[in-house]
Amino acid sequence: MREDTARSRIVLRNTLREQASPYDLRGDAHAGLSSTPKTLPSKYFYDARGSHLFEMITRLPEYYLTRAETEILERESGRIVEAFRPRVLVEFGSGAARKTRILLDAMLERGLLEGYGPVDVSAEASRNAADALTRDYPHIRVEGVIGDFERPRDLPFAGRPRLMAFLGSTIGNLEPTHATSFLTSIREEMTAADGFLVGFDLVKDIDVLERAYNDEAGVTAKFNLNVLRVLNRELGASFDLDAFRHRAVWNAVDSRIEMHLVSVVEQFVRIPSIGLDISFAAGETIRTELSHKYTRESAGGLLQASGLGLESWCTDRSDRFALALARARSV
Ligand code: SAH
Ligand code: AVI
Repeated sequence: MREDTARSRIVLRNTLREQASPYDLRGDAHAGLSSTPKTLPSKYFYDARGSHLFEMITRLPEYYLTRAETEILERESGRIVEAFRPRVLVEFGSGAARKTRILLDAMLERGLLEGYGPVDVSAEASRNAADALTRDYPHIRVEGVIGDFERPRDLPFAGRPRLMAFLGSTIGNLEPTHATSFLTSIREEMTAADGFLVGFDLVKDIDVLERAYNDEAGVTAKFNLNVLRVLNRELGASFDLDAFRHRAVWNAVDSRIEMHLVSVVEQFVRIPSIGLDISFAAGETIRTELSHKYTRESAGGLLQASGLGLESWCTDRSDRFALALARARSV
């Protein structure tokens, strides 16, 4: 009974298969695997297994990002909410929405909380998060989008005062030009009353960065290889997961960690459903993820270029991670 009541407060609109959706595994796999160097967009990691593996990553001793951001949210959420007094939290790349609760609690304590609008490509993560939140927040309405945040049309709760959040440093997974166009498109959706909270992972000691993406337990390696399982299942590809290994390295020129899958041997892989036969030299890689690390200056430049004015910049005690709070600049 209680479960039914909670479910009736959830609306999740699935836009993944809409025409011209940028979530296009066939097209992206064809383009990325026939290019030199070979690449795949990181958004395809997140099927049910990939989302679960990411949650395991957030608990790893080497992966400091989630703990650092949680520390800032616990310290600053009251001030963030007071600054905009939002009725609704709209979150891009919301995943399991665990840290989200810190912001929701701050809104609830002030009698402001009406709704939550998650936007994420992972149907499983979105459904689980919506179920858990409507169970635990008895009056909240969840109006979310299962879809690609790179085409943020018809964002939930238009007309209500909204705090937009992009946590976890997922902004770092976008090339800076894409990050600018994404932030610009969100800014165009914002009113003067709305706030935008963005998490940035900061440039730091290379060993700390590389360890975060090469954990001892091998969970990040499983997460990386999971994209090949997705291609095998969704496109009938013939990737042998034992013939690839995980590599994550710092690229100082572009200020980013890059994840690759390295072909252990010379091999051919077929993806008949998209008419692709791919040859790999031994040691050749598929670049599967970029994770850009920012400084206060580079993050400020990105916000500025996107028409967002920085209101505050908060870091954790060890300066590993930052939360930027911004509002749309009048243009
Ligand atoms: N915000 C959570 C989860 C981060 S993991 C945290 O901070 O812990 C990144 C999330 O972004 C995943 O849930 C993934 O499904 C989602 N994601 C990645 N690329 C996306 C895209 N292009 N559009 C929508 N969601 C995306
Ligand atoms: C979601 N995103 C911010 C993570 C990151 O750190 O770039 C994904 C990840 N990749 C490997 N570990 C975690």
